[in-house]
Amino acid sequence: MRLTSPTFAICLIICVAARCLACAEGFEQLDSAALRDQYGQSRSFAEFGKQPVLVIAFLGTECPLARLYASRLAKLSHEFSDRGVQFVGISSNLQDSSTELVHFARQHGIEFPLWKDFDQGLANLFEVSRIPEAIVLDRAREIRYRGRIDDQYSIGRQRARAEREDLRIALEELLAGQSISIPRTEPPGCLIGRPAPPDSNAKITWHDQISRLMQTHCQECHRPGQIGPFSLLTYDDTVGWGPMIAEVIEQGRMPPWHADPNYGHFVNDARLTPDEKQLILGWVQAGCPPGDAADAPEPREFVEGWQIPQPDQVVYISEAPYVVPAEGVVPYEWFEVDPGFTEDKWISAVECRPGNPAVVHHVTVYFRPPWIDWELKLGDRINMLGGYSPGKRPVTSDNKEQAALFIPKGSKLVFEMHYTVNGTVQADRSCVALKFADPALVKHQMSVVPVANTTFEIPPGADSHRVDASYTFDEDSLVFSLSPHMHLRGKAFRFEAEYPDHTREILLDVPAFDFNWQTDYILVEPKRMPKGTRMHCTAHFDNSGDNPANPDPTLTVRWGDQIWEEMMIGGLGIVPEHQDLSRGIGKPRLVVGTHRHLRNQFVIAGVLMTLAATGGTWMFRRNHRK
Ligand code: HEC
Repeated sequence: MRLTSPTFAICLIICVAARCLACAEGFEQLDSAALRDQYGQSRSFAEFGKQPVLVIAFLGTECPLARLYASRLAKLSHEFSDRGVQFVGISSNLQDSSTELVHFARQHGIEFPLWKDFDQGLANLFEVSRIPEAIVLDRAREIRYRGRIDDQYSIGRQRARAEREDLRIALEELLAGQSISIPRTEPPGCLIGRPAPPDSNAKITWHDQISRLMQTHCQECHRPGQIGPFSLLTYDDTVGWGPMIAEVIEQGRMPPWHADPNYGHFVNDARLTPDEKQLILGWVQAGCPPGDAADAPEPREFVEGWQIPQPDQVVYISEAPYVVPAEGVVPYEWFEVDPGFTEDKWISAVECRPGNPAVVHHVTVYFRPPWIDWELKLGDRINMLGGYSPGKRPVTSDNKEQAALFIPKGSKLVFEMHYTVNGTVQADRSCVALKFADPALVKHQMSVVPVANTTFEIPPGADSHRVDASYTFDEDSLVFSLSPHMHLRGKAFRFEAEYPDHTREILLDVPAFDFNWQTDYILVEPKRMPKGTRMHCTAHFDNSGDNPANPDPTLTVRWGDQIWEEMMIGGLGIVPEHQDLSRGIGKPRLVVGTHRHLRNQFVIAGVLMTLAATGGTWMFRRNHRK
């Protein structure tokens, strides 16, 4: 069907130069795309023949950025609706079903039409490769603006607020009859999958090889209810994500892992081998062939219960769920809970479980001994019990070493919650599960030494500001985990041991630190640190405007626990090598530090906490001494 418009003839003349879609051919194509709404009805742009402005927003129900922008588009549409601006949402993603579109529209309050571009004809016509992208057409259906909605979010990064609302500005300018100041911006976001016709002689197929790789490397996060924004469980779930999968794998963004492979071997190393990468890239290149279902592996079984042995006690953040807003940046939230410890406790396993993994970025649980009257918010984050954050993987153990963490009776538990918004209002009730050890059997006291520097000053604009901290072991110890911690300006972090004979060894190097992935690096073989060994931690911070996560490059940045302040902590998970508490060899330490101590660069040895956390779980590894 041909769209009729009063300016059609004029446009025919100008459009050749202006690459407009009101060209005869373009018009027909605009209307010939196989569009259906979320209820399966055929639809056409001819419906909006008289609307002076048309905004075509390419979306998708699974792309993290499209989700973040969906409710913003809904609001913009609402604001401009009585000014002759018609919004239409389009999904050209193979993997979006009609039911998902209905749900997506409801979740994000989308009232404008949301159509599916079945044959991807519309995406091809506009040459849209990434979503979300907004395309603004004027009355002549000439493209006046195309690109991002604003500059707040890009993949994995966000600013506190948008600095330029490109779509809104373009609409205002267009309605005011002005020329558009920036008519084109690059939309960051998810690639639209356009699989080539699969090759029936394909050697690399989903059923044969790729499903197995997804099982081992991706599905722990990419399945319903987990932190990955979409499922990679089945062929249908995965095929539309093909090109995007190739992109994240080539760039090394997925699976998330940030350590330099030249140093250290880690239990939770998430990287794909070069061969595995080649397989996946080859599969995508061949058009993602499914192959023969007879080759398929059994589906991977996931533990839906606890990953630690049956816990003795589960403590929740609160009775009522905490409500996470749809948009914006949520400041840290703290919840103090009384677990009712009437006697001292030895803890052999901890599992922090996010109530709602879609919005819980990380959980850290501290304990506050009864004689300490500090306010955690001010930075007293030393008595750490455990944590959950993305990128951690489960490790199992039977804890033969009988290592445990000590919590004095009367202690309270303090949850520090960091939520990230995902475009819809969400509720969360996270918890921590504790497994108690028999005090008579505990041999080793686990602790984490924070090797910290709290007196740094990062100058405005500095793109690689170095901060050092060190710690000297006062007894023979075994290090089993390394946990760099910085905030948004964190750039790189390194742990290097200087042994008593002055030889040096790099234990962990994280050249491209990413605040979004606070990983505990768990050594395959715990390292012996003889007494007198000095651990050097070196951090680099990027406070320049080139760091897209930087909330404000004009500030001098100092220690502080807010996300826009900085931290420099190298967490060392250790046990004393020669201790055997069960036989009276050695004593538990009970040094409880304070923020003031940290400020004085006082490193609290034997602070009772642990970071050997994996999947929110820690347990002492059995084979820690071979
Ligand atoms: C530890 C959890 C985890 C693992 C393992 C993981 N992912 Fe992801 N993935 C995520 C999260 C979380 C996001 C969303 C990031 C965001 O919101 O920006 C994501 C996003 C993506 C995206 C969308 C693009 C993007 O950067 O947002 C793709 C594609 C992807 N993952 C593919 C994979 C593949 C393929 C694997 C396995 C080879 C994998 N992921 C392993 C957690 C994981």
